Amino acid sequence: MKKLIIANQKTYLNKTSVKEFINNFKYAQDIIICPSFPFISEYSNYLLGAQDISEEETNTQTGEITGTQLKSLNCRYVIVGHSERRAKQGESDELIKKKLINAQNSDLVPILCVGENKEEYEAKITDEVLGKQLSAALDNIEGELIIAYEPIWAIGTGLIPSNKEIYYVVQKIKAKYPQYKVLYGGSVNVNNINELIQIENVDGYLIGGASSDAEELNLIVKSCQ
Ligand code: PGA
Repeated sequence: MKKLIIANQKTYLNKTSVKEFINNFKYAQDIIICPSFPFISEYSNYLLGAQDISEEETNTQTGEITGTQLKSLNCRYVIVGHSERRAKQGESDELIKKKLINAQNSDLVPILCVGENKEEYEAKITDEVLGKQLSAALDNIEGELIIAYEPIWAIGTGLIPSNKEIYYVVQKIKAKYPQYKVLYGGSVNVNNINELIQIENVDGYLIGGASSDAEELNLIVKSCQ
């Protein structure tokens, strides 16, 4: 089955490098791209996602982006609960749930990120940590969404779990939430993609750093087709 690729370009690119990326990337129709907010409109012929959404739809939220605004920019997806926002912006499970609900009410598909940190991984409590994050976000939720399993210790570090470990975690998630696609994210790159695509139960990848380099992303997408 073809793997779903979601590019989370975070804050890697600027006005000039966004143009370079668009000129050099060959698979605009084959991925979902989540650019930095200021550059969303540049990606006009892509399937678009946003990196975040406000938790409510009011006109008085300085610096926030609402679901209505994202829809008006033709966004279809939005990342919620990314570990960088959980850690650096202090986003709580409660806030993440509000964002997820706001996304769905705005007719956007949430991409819910969950993952354990290094200590939790070493203490072998990944199942419990993910179980809590998932039920905090998903209890009483219906409708379309995507889950991204992203071990925090694998994000931007070059470290990744073994294929067996990823398979096991994804299997656990799917046992409880069989209705959702489950992606893997964390240091996916051109050197490990051919190994990662061997994991049968993974529906695709959420790619950070490597997704801001058009040449590298070209090779990754090619491997996944
Ligand atoms: P990375 O980031 O690919 O740079 O590790 C993944 C993510 O944060 O979604």
